[in-house]
Amino acid sequence: MKAITIPTAGGPDALLWADVPDPTPGPGEVVIDIRASAVNRADLLQRQGHYPPPAGAPPYPGLECAGVIGAVGAGVTGWSVGEPVCALLSGGGYAERVAVPVGQLLPVPKGVGLTEAAALPEVACTVWSNVARLARLGTDETLLVHGGGSGIGTFAVQFGAALGATVLATARAAKHDRLRELGATAVIDYSSEDFVESTKAATDGRGADVILDIVGGAYLGRNVAALATGGRLVVIGLQGGRRGELDLGALLAKRASVAATALRSQPAADKAAIVRGVREEVWPLVESGVIRPVVDRRVPMAQAAEAHRVVESNTHFGKVLLTLD
Ligand SMILES: NC(=O)c1ccc[n+]([C@@H]2O[C@H](COP(=O)([O-])OP(=O)(O)OC[C@H]3O[C@@H](n4cnc5c(N)ncnc54)[C@H](OP(=O)(O)O)[C@@H]3O)[C@@H](O)[C@H]2O)c1
Repeated sequence: MKAITIPTAGGPDALLWADVPDPTPGPGEVVIDIRASAVNRADLLQRQGHYPPPAGAPPYPGLECAGVIGAVGAGVTGWSVGEPVCALLSGGGYAERVAVPVGQLLPVPKGVGLTEAAALPEVACTVWSNVARLARLGTDETLLVHGGGSGIGTFAVQFGAALGATVLATARAAKHDRLRELGATAVIDYSSEDFVESTKAATDGRGADVILDIVGGAYLGRNVAALATGGRLVVIGLQGGRRGELDLGALLAKRASVAATALRSQPAADKAAIVRGVREEVWPLVESGVIRPVVDRRVPMAQAAEAHRVVESNTHFGKVLLTLD
């Protein structure tokens, strides 16, 4: 088969479409004939040599895909050859085929095209596991989503609104109208506004009950300042560095909490539990049209370098898909 390989870490042109060995399904796995994958921020880091795949994962980038089951391994029940699926991967989505444990498979939601379905697994699993399962966002609460125009952000805004929460989002101004259409009640241009002040202004001074943060170190103190009493800050990205100063007094006074999680490195059993939760609690929202995949553009997989340039420029809104004929 062909896959995007990274012979030498570097810029987008480090991505090479090359012949590689075909995967075979191990026990409890299926092989998917891939129709589409999607670019995640982590893929850019992997390309640069900063984010090696976890042990046992394919060496090629790609944390999600959609396609058709092409082969099933020993002991697999409930899934069969020819079935359309999408999947959460530990790597290997930028390829014609990938082997994946059945616990990471999801049916293609009704009403969603096979290619578009590749936009969903990584964001649905990340957002549901952090916003619903970990932070327990309530219907009468306020969610602040940093990076609202990202793949993660566009899903988180819709998910928060679907739960009935009030959703605030930070993004540069060019993305504001589209964020309002997705359900954000207030949008904050972090490049010209103090997001702490804007969050307070949008919540009658209370602050946000849950913050989903992709910035990390540079925002730690201000995120705690933007939390309401009893608030929960969940850090999932470190685009602003891994270190910051935490004022425990401020946290203590608010009875607030700070957590940080990563999805890719979790054991298969934990990923399977998240995928089950997504299937039960998120897929019905997608199938009823309350949440939709937000696709910025489709790029042929062999031209993944072009897709990486787009994501690196931050001009995209939602997901950039990598497609195969
Ligand atoms: N921990 C996990 O398990 C996990 C899983 C998936 C993703 N993530 C993380 O989640 C983040 C989003 O991933 P993605 O693939 O969806 O990213 P993406 O589509 O590449 O989008 C990243 C966006 O971040 C925004 N941004 C940059 N600096 C910002 C700031 N200071 N404040 C607000 N927004 C800012 C940019 O939008 P503007 O144009 O508005 O600046 C950019 O479009 C990444 O950091 C990724 O590593 C974590």
